Amino acid sequence: MPARNDAAPLPIRLRDYAPPPWRVVQAELDFELGIDASEVGARLHLARDPAQDAPLRLDGEELELLAIALDGAPLPAGRWRYADGVLEVDGARDGSVLETRVRVRPAENTALEGLYLSGSREAGFLLTQCEAEGFRRITFFPDRPDVLARFTVTLRADRARFPVLLAGGNPDGAGELPGGRHWARFVDPHPKPSYLFALVAGRLEKIERDYRTADGRAVKLAIWSEADAIGRCRYALGALERAMRWDEETYGRNYDLDVFHVVATHDFNMGAMENKGLNIFNAKYLLADPDTTTDDEYRAVEAVVAHEYFHNWSGNRVTCRDWFQLSLKEGLTVFREQQFSARMNSPALKRIEDVALLRRAQFPEDAGPLAHPVRPAEYREINNFYTATVYEKGAELVRMLAGRLGEAGFRRGMDLYFARHDGRAATLEDFLAALGEANGLDLSPYLAWYAQAGTPRLTARGRHDAAARTYTLTLAQHTPPTPGQPDKRPLPIPVKLALFDRAGRMLPLRLDGQTSAASTERVVVLAQAEQDFVFRGVDAPPVPSLLRGFSAPVILECDYAPEELALLLAHDPDGFNRWEAGQQLALRAYAALRDGGGEAAVEGWCAALAALFDDAALDPALLADLLTPPGEIELAEREREVDPARIHALRQELQRRLAAALGGERLERHHRKLAADAGAQPDAAAQARRRLKRRVLELLALHDPAAALPLAQRQYESAAGMTDRLAALAVLVRHEAPQALNALAAFRARHAQDPLALDKWFAVQAQIPGEPALARVRALEADPAFTLKNPNRVRALLGSYASGNPSGFHRADGAGYRLLAERLAQLDALNPQVAARLATAFNGWQRLEPVRREQARQALAALAGHGALSRNLAEIVGHLLP
Ligand code: PHE
Ligand code: ZN
Repeated sequence: MPARNDAAPLPIRLRDYAPPPWRVVQAELDFELGIDASEVGARLHLARDPAQDAPLRLDGEELELLAIALDGAPLPAGRWRYADGVLEVDGARDGSVLETRVRVRPAENTALEGLYLSGSREAGFLLTQCEAEGFRRITFFPDRPDVLARFTVTLRADRARFPVLLAGGNPDGAGELPGGRHWARFVDPHPKPSYLFALVAGRLEKIERDYRTADGRAVKLAIWSEADAIGRCRYALGALERAMRWDEETYGRNYDLDVFHVVATHDFNMGAMENKGLNIFNAKYLLADPDTTTDDEYRAVEAVVAHEYFHNWSGNRVTCRDWFQLSLKEGLTVFREQQFSARMNSPALKRIEDVALLRRAQFPEDAGPLAHPVRPAEYREINNFYTATVYEKGAELVRMLAGRLGEAGFRRGMDLYFARHDGRAATLEDFLAALGEANGLDLSPYLAWYAQAGTPRLTARGRHDAAARTYTLTLAQHTPPTPGQPDKRPLPIPVKLALFDRAGRMLPLRLDGQTSAASTERVVVLAQAEQDFVFRGVDAPPVPSLLRGFSAPVILECDYAPEELALLLAHDPDGFNRWEAGQQLALRAYAALRDGGGEAAVEGWCAALAALFDDAALDPALLADLLTPPGEIELAEREREVDPARIHALRQELQRRLAAALGGERLERHHRKLAADAGAQPDAAAQARRRLKRRVLELLALHDPAAALPLAQRQYESAAGMTDRLAALAVLVRHEAPQALNALAAFRARHAQDPLALDKWFAVQAQIPGEPALARVRALEADPAFTLKNPNRVRALLGSYASGNPSGFHRADGAGYRLLAERLAQLDALNPQVAARLATAFNGWQRLEPVRREQARQALAALAGHGALSRNLAEIVGHLLP
């Protein structure tokens, strides 16, 4: 008896939270696994909240109920009802045991939520995805994160078809069954919410390593994949070990089971999942070798492996009371991953990468119709809230708190948080209380950051008084309205700053009313709408370096003179702010090109970078980032009316000017020098050289295609690894070079068997700028390797086009919008989660110039009128088209 709940009309609200009337203390699950049909038996040991008097209600979606019994006696039909995603059972008492048996259909599950098949019927394997509400597609359960149960899981299946049987927890026996079948049992000693349940069954290979935790536990680490990819799991295993050590050393957190399994799948809606003891990964974030993996992807693998591992404490041992608290685990875990990655690689580069991501993904979200607070107040479909705001802005909020407390204070606070809430479900208030109490501080003013959407604008004005030898810094804040939040409050904004003299030296800082020893860097907190900060003993007008390390997720507006930015670019020891000064100069140069007349700004930017170009002391990766102006999405954020074609053309022109200033010969020479060591090792120094090599080649291609394209072809042919190969291919393809066709064919032939490499082949073509992109996307949709059923493939082609190629997608004739709207309707019938995410490419359409705006509106209206949209897609379209 299938039941669906797609049309749930009302939003779910944070303020309506009530504790669960019924809990599950212990869950015993029995699986008879099969590809077409699997049967799930559940014995749930129930506990009733004596303070509440509600009937027993369990969540269940698309379950075929085969049997039901209460306290050992089968329940007659009149004693239970199953409708609209809820099973209601009469007669349950505190201590009752409810038994159900259901059938589910893995092979028909295209939503990739619940129990599903990855790969083909013949060779694929079975796996589960439960966060946020997938467990209810496996069995009846109070599927909410504040119900924590002990799980015992028994798996049974045909041995030849499913030789490997895995579930979360510790192994607790395995054996043979008649008829070529076998079984395996797992017991998880740690109570957990249902969203952390997982199983995997099929033909998989593994690599293993023994690990001993700092507190002495012997742990078997295993990474599993299908046979063809097992040689590409080594890097992830090393990353896992580094992450485990780091969490022991940095936060005193030890792993807590005898085994830790990680499994790769090519069919996954998201990046990866932290199921207790059995992490499941999108293969894109697990498999790595130099021939198929770019340097950026290597870093992503290390980061995601660490992220999922860190969840074992921030998420699993201490979980979320409800899904409004999602950032409690995600913001905190992203922050922990950022700290780890900074430690493993270059801290400045990591910060630049993360802030660039924030600006490209989160700021636009915060500025458009999908804006929501880090802790949303309501939702219709929780899967739509795994957003850049909850993750990336959430991590920035934790960073502000950590900065406020200092390293030792933050550690004290985290220790208290973990100790106090271990084995329980917590809230963001609990988190702030623990951090504050451990340090004798009231951090509750920071709660406002979690409740208020929108990116604050921070303005800074400085005034030097020669007679008084003071420098007065006036800071002011303003947050623009967002949907449902017209009026904004001031937030506590920590501004880390330094003052430079005109020779580029940092000045000692003596803040008014402060007696302690002067240092050259400090944090001031702007708590009101506007405040003055007076520095004493300042002889001449200084150059302020503000928001160092990006100390708060705000947009800083400060009218620097160009020579002041040039001074920071040349001298600021804060690597992030150094890059930021370069970005500010680039923005001015861009504006000058756009508005005409400002030659000096363009020349100033080019000259500043030309002066750094041969600086041997500069990290090549930082130089590469300095040579990259803000991206098209970031540029669009600064316009009142957006014309993506014009933005693309202007940004290209800006880069052409930079390339011309550097000079073709100098670029070629540099490329040759960097090409001389053409290895493919993923160490930081080699990565940095390849990053610069790519940037130099891209600049040269803009300046002198006749010289650059043959060079790109040679680089393509001789590349030792994917980073150099893909960089060269991208240059050929984006310039529509005659050599591109051959290179694409060679790439396709070389990587025909590897879905992840093939995704890059689709993505690089979807990003051809401007008019030609659409026809290419249409042609690629007809490629036999394209399918709407695989999320990675969809993201590679349609995601790269709609979200990663503004000038290609935003056509004045609206054909890009129509294509996307049509595909969304088709995709939605298969996989609502992926469809809803892809639809966010329409974010910001209201700020397009009038012709495109009207085209986008019509495409969205046609989609909205489609009728049978999922709750996921309907919610997004509803926000986009209010
Ligand atoms: N919780 C996962 C993470 O680490 C993300 C995820 C959410 C994965 C929902 C699958 C489904 O961030
Ligand atoms: Zn996470």
